[in-house]
Amino acid sequence: MNILVTGGAGFIGSHLADGLIREGHRVVIVDNETTGRSPNVPVEAVYIKGDVTRFADLELAFAQGLDAVCHIAGQVSLISSFTNPLVDLRVNVEGTVNVLQLCLKYRVPRLLYASSMTVYGTSEQLPTPESALCAPISYYGITKYASERYVHATAQRVDLDFAFHVTSFRMYNVYGPRQALDNPYQGVLGIFLGNLLRDEPVTIFGDGHQSRDFIYIDDVVEAWVSALANPETYGGVFNLGSGHRLTINQLADHALAAFDRTRIDGRVVYAPGRPGEQRHVEADVTLARKVLGWQPRMPFNVGLAETVRWATAILPRPAA
Ligand code: UD1
Repeated sequence: MNILVTGGAGFIGSHLADGLIREGHRVVIVDNETTGRSPNVPVEAVYIKGDVTRFADLELAFAQGLDAVCHIAGQVSLISSFTNPLVDLRVNVEGTVNVLQLCLKYRVPRLLYASSMTVYGTSEQLPTPESALCAPISYYGITKYASERYVHATAQRVDLDFAFHVTSFRMYNVYGPRQALDNPYQGVLGIFLGNLLRDEPVTIFGDGHQSRDFIYIDDVVEAWVSALANPETYGGVFNLGSGHRLTINQLADHALAAFDRTRIDGRVVYAPGRPGEQRHVEADVTLARKVLGWQPRMPFNVGLAETVRWATAILPRPAA
């Protein structure tokens, strides 16, 4: 297949592009390099530096003749969604609507969308199944949910004259190599590893008892790749998490231990909690197991070791 990966120079998108190429697909990438980096782009991919908010940029990719689109590009920071709500709205919602308009114009039959566990908000149910109420509490969660609904409502339009099959993945806290080590607006594990490698203290927002479900990048890629041509996933929405949760305090302790360090010496500092944060997060992945035959395979300690190995090769390890 000829597949567009939006955000394909970023952490998740570039790993997905690698996975699709390994399966023999041709990949076109559109990325504006806000957080993505061109060295992440596989050499085999056609690369267009462009922005999903600009219809013309995206159209260059669609004009290549696409069989499928994996729409990953997005503004990913909860904090930025509050400080810059219109940017979050434009990138996440307008970007998705542009992708949808072009899927219709070019009659692209398949779209996979990168949704997020933030759509649930404060869920009563833990672990949370896909059937739980979606009531996002961050502006970011609102734009991810709105986009997810745009995607699925478009596929259900009765006025379409071709079969448009869509699938959304509500991804949990994805971690692994290529996560940013130097960007405070990116995922927490990369931030902590970058802090430790630069010999800085790690900062925990709030009391650190909030929990997250960490899922390794390779597990996520496996789900996306296997869903691509699987009709059982058409119209579906799937959680992609590990089904386990760690508190941020535990995560900090694991990260410290990976560098043979402890909390002594003020290596952990606490700062006020941030707006829009879910307290506890844990995926129920029964649906993905049943429909996709997928399961999260990477144990956290092994995934952490892989990520530390990668990070240490980028930034030299500090003296113990
Ligand atoms: C993350 C993603 C979001 C994605 C969601 C679900 C980022 C920036 N956000 O949101 O795009 O949709 O997972 O997969 O990648 N924390 C600290 N210290 C720090 C940084 C973070 O204590 O230096 C805490 C936060 O306050 C939060 C937790 O760690 O409680 C996780 O934060 P973060 O990695 O930013 O991700 P989410 O907000 O969970």
